[in-house]
Amino acid sequence: MDYLEIVGKQKLSGEITISGAKNAALPVVAATILSDQEVTLTNLPDVVDIRTLIRLLGMLGGEVKHDKTVAVINNGSITSTKAIYEIVSQMRASILVLGSLLTRFGECEVSLPGGCAIGQRPIDLHLKALEAMGAAIEIKGGYVRAEAPNGLHGAKIIFDKITVGGTENIIMAAALAHGTTEIINAAREPEVVQLCEMIAQAGVSVEGIGTGTITIEGTGGKPLVFADPIEIIPDRIEAGTYLCAGAITHSEITLNKVNQEHIQASLDKLESMGCSFTIEKERITIHPAKQLKPVSIITTEYPGFPTDMQAQFMAVASIVEEGESLIEERLFENRFMHVSELNRLGTDIWLKGNTAAVRPVKELNGAVVMATDLRASSALVLAALAANGVTQVKRIYHLDRGYDNLEGKLSALGADITRKSDR
Ligand code: UD1
Repeated sequence: MDYLEIVGKQKLSGEITISGAKNAALPVVAATILSDQEVTLTNLPDVVDIRTLIRLLGMLGGEVKHDKTVAVINNGSITSTKAIYEIVSQMRASILVLGSLLTRFGECEVSLPGGCAIGQRPIDLHLKALEAMGAAIEIKGGYVRAEAPNGLHGAKIIFDKITVGGTENIIMAAALAHGTTEIINAAREPEVVQLCEMIAQAGVSVEGIGTGTITIEGTGGKPLVFADPIEIIPDRIEAGTYLCAGAITHSEITLNKVNQEHIQASLDKLESMGCSFTIEKERITIHPAKQLKPVSIITTEYPGFPTDMQAQFMAVASIVEEGESLIEERLFENRFMHVSELNRLGTDIWLKGNTAAVRPVKELNGAVVMATDLRASSALVLAALAANGVTQVKRIYHLDRGYDNLEGKLSALGADITRKSDR
């Protein structure tokens, strides 16, 4: 199995380019099912999750040419509407094909994703909303079987809780439904905005893009013709992670192809910790803090502080000069698996309920650590960059799911990081 070996304490410098956002690319790839014609996607991140979803399209009968950052997809040839367990269990976001398959074909079977390292992550809100749109849904043999032989109809959907994937599934379902769908308490993440814009550019009326109320006039079953090509937005979590790399190694680094607005919450927190920035169009340079200060974080929905940046900030907070940082996780009940691994590198982090108290330590020291989920993995890499000696980060298949060429980009900045295999 692959692992990363990192020799810490190297000063970083230089610039890197941020890849397309995994979490934007996934719904965009799923939305290609809404069309029976060819569509080209560009700026895809070259990560395992995208390859997995594209593989699923191929299994359904879609024609896909995919080369790293570009995919040409034609879903006119889909013959199956079953997303099998082997794929969905590898990547929960495969559940995003539920809305698009059902609305285009009037039926589908999608495996239930099952458990996840960061919490239960149910899909009850997706299912309830599809039922409100006229779907008959049955859970059998580990699969969601959904049927709407005469197509879905528009409905007023009020989400009890803001859900990114749920909002995306219903946007896709609504695009080909009969009549108007109003989604109340919709997610406002930039990735949701990209999906809305993709559908709007295909001629569907979508109102309230980027707000908590989205209204969509469905085409009544007519497949969409997408404007070509669709360029995936920059990855705000990847950008935030590299900013944290600058902060934790006290280095000045520049990121190209970033959307400043999308990473404002991370910029604000790093600023409160003493870092500063030079911001030009799509380009951000982080200037390290003279003295890193503690931080107080509560994760919440966009535009609040993203749960996907919580672990990385915890790593940075562990080496501030003095003072305790408090990090409260409000979105996922079990998203602190990285704490015990970080503590193996010498951090002093205590958990009480859904809050972590991060007490500063004088130094971190290299050790063998285990990645537990995608963002937890990058937190371990960040801590390793600041630690004395050698750290081995095991189970990096988590990292490969979502970070495009992490070790290549960090090496380009001067980090001593090597991918090795213990097989
Ligand atoms: C997406 C992101 C993930 C991010 C998360 C929150 C993708 C591929 N993944 O995940 O990186 O961490 O948003 O910003 O975009 N919930 C329910 N019932 C449901 C659906 C969700 O209770 O039917 C709960 C979840 O368990 C969680 C909260 O709602 O506690 C938010 O989850 P959601 O926004 O749906 O996350 P994902 O779309 O899975």
